Amino acid sequence: MERTFIMIKPDGVQRKLVSEIISRFELKGFTLLGLKLMSVNKELAEEHYGIHKERPFFKDLVQFICSSPVVAMVWEGEGVVASSRKIIGATNPLEADSGTIRGDFGINVGRNLIHGSDAIETAKGEINLWFNEQELISWEPTLKSWLC
Ligand code: TYD
Repeated sequence: MERTFIMIKPDGVQRKLVSEIISRFELKGFTLLGLKLMSVNKELAEEHYGIHKERPFFKDLVQFICSSPVVAMVWEGEGVVASSRKIIGATNPLEADSGTIRGDFGINVGRNLIHGSDAIETAKGEINLWFNEQELISWEPTLKSWLC
């Protein structure tokens, strides 16, 4: 089953959007396999955003991600990588549609609240970078008679 890496960035945590963001993924029907509130060191932030190393915003981005805690998560489900990108919305909140997380709550591209892997292969690398195997739980509902 497909998996993706989602991170609520420091601005999302500070603005108390953690529960709102998690509920959007839960209500869509995806399954949470791992979740942790964590401080990010420079090495991890630089590796995660390595593809942007030469971009002018790289240094600020790394500094921002390390500035206060983030919530790192792994979600599973059919088409979860592409679907999450839709739930999250365009990189620049000004261009993100209403109904998306960035469209509803974001203002500035440098403070766009949330990260989601952009492709299945990227997701695999990001999940390995942020989580070890023991931190992820593969599970199925066992209370099926309670659920519709
Ligand atoms: P990117 O991978 O292009 O976007 P996304 O997060 O939607 O996959 O960029 C990574 C992050 O870099 C982005 O979420 C916010 C930051 N960023 C800037 O601060 N300024 C910019 O001009 C761009 C393009 C990105």
